[in-house]
Amino acid sequence: MGIGLKSNENKVSKKFYIESYGCQMNFADSEVVASIVSKEGYNSTNNLNDADLILLNTCSIREKAELTVRKRLESFNKLKRKNKNLKVGVLGCMAERLKSKFLDEEKIVDLVVGPDAYKDIPNLLEEINEGRNAVNVILSKEETYGDISPVRLSSNGVTAFVSITRGCDNMCTFCVVPFTRGRERSRDPKSILNEIKDLNNSNYKEITLLGQNVDSYLWYGGGLKKDFKNADEFVKKTSVNFSKLLKLVAEAFPKLRIRFSTSNPQDMSLDVIKTMANYDNICNYIHLPVQSGSDSILKAMNRQHTREEYLTLIKNIKDIIPNCGISHDMITGFPNESDMDHKQTLSLMKEVQYDFGYMFKYSERPGTFAAKKFEDNVKESVKKIRLQEIIDLQQTHSHYRTRQYVGKIVEVLIEKESKKSNLHWAGRNEQNTMVVFPKQSHNIGDFVKVKVLECTSATLIGVSQDL
Ligand code: SAH
Ligand code: F3S
Repeated sequence: MGIGLKSNENKVSKKFYIESYGCQMNFADSEVVASIVSKEGYNSTNNLNDADLILLNTCSIREKAELTVRKRLESFNKLKRKNKNLKVGVLGCMAERLKSKFLDEEKIVDLVVGPDAYKDIPNLLEEINEGRNAVNVILSKEETYGDISPVRLSSNGVTAFVSITRGCDNMCTFCVVPFTRGRERSRDPKSILNEIKDLNNSNYKEITLLGQNVDSYLWYGGGLKKDFKNADEFVKKTSVNFSKLLKLVAEAFPKLRIRFSTSNPQDMSLDVIKTMANYDNICNYIHLPVQSGSDSILKAMNRQHTREEYLTLIKNIKDIIPNCGISHDMITGFPNESDMDHKQTLSLMKEVQYDFGYMFKYSERPGTFAAKKFEDNVKESVKKIRLQEIIDLQQTHSHYRTRQYVGKIVEVLIEKESKKSNLHWAGRNEQNTMVVFPKQSHNIGDFVKVKVLECTSATLIGVSQDL
């Protein structure tokens, strides 16, 4: 078909491959990027060897995350030698943190795009295809990608992420996110509801509302949160905060399971907890990072709450939603963390008995307040021991929590085949615990009542009651 070939048909033969690292937000962003790149005539491929464009959506949260990406980049050298036209792009937090330095440090990289600059990718692709390197790392006070319909990548067709805020204003002293993802801004509820409507129409069964700090969501027509206090009364009255947004979504889509992440203790309101309790389709599960059980460490981390305030919040959650699953993030070995501080962390964990948790050794991030002001003075060997102690304790608590389900019936949304057996389905209960059970006549996307017969610390094993 040589005659009448339209210019964009020329592009159609190109393929892109995208790989995501780090938080759920990066995975959601990659779906926005896939949508933008597809409009440029690139088809997506899961095979690296077929790709004309490789994109890595990167994470800077800990040094290890960055090293993983650098190793991955190295592995592309061979591919580039084979395919002279292959282009490699770095997206996300490392792009933002390292900016054009990336091009000097990693010769393989042609394209560097920060988290707020994805709409510029079409122009940047033109640049690199003409043989120039291209960089855009401009952060925005408005960009939410609310008008882009994400292309669902390697989706199970059942669960999807929907981002509701971008950036973070909290400035926890250890954290690189406020530098790489910029100021916090909220997305128009209309565009959130439209995205969910599309997912609902495509038969998705569960959505997770995403933000660095979802409880801080506030829509009053656009603009930064700090300017809200100067808004007029009408604007204030018609504004939408997180509990209102949850209510809107829960009422508009009564059949959808609704989750959200991440909650920040300082911003989580009683209204949010009550809204969760009022709607059956909002899952009773809260990821509530605490980072440390010691007041002096919390203060040095600039977390805006004390240990006691955090425990009061946990008590409120358990009073209002007794069966609520709760998980945490914990950092061990923050500068000046003493043995006593560490013991406080262990004792806080014992008080809460979390369902599960994500635990990390402190990793100093260049440019953060902690990197500038505190010495990374807890020895690596001590960090390691402390980390192991909190992991072991969490394991005990997780097992205690899963044991409470044995003999009970839980509702599971089937997401995939069990990793260990092709005769079993796997899905989560509303508290976010993994459940596996024999497939019988069920299918992916079904909600099934499962009787729990046994458990490990991470998984419930049962049998369907819906036959
Ligand atoms: N906004 C979310 C996600 C932050 S990043 C929140 O508030 O939870 C996810 C987790 O990574 C954090 O909760 C923290 O436990 C961990 N983390 C962030 N910076 C870190 C660092 N410098 N070293 C070790 N862990 C870190
Ligand atoms: Fe980071 Fe604290 Fe925000 S952990 S993402 S600065 S809430």
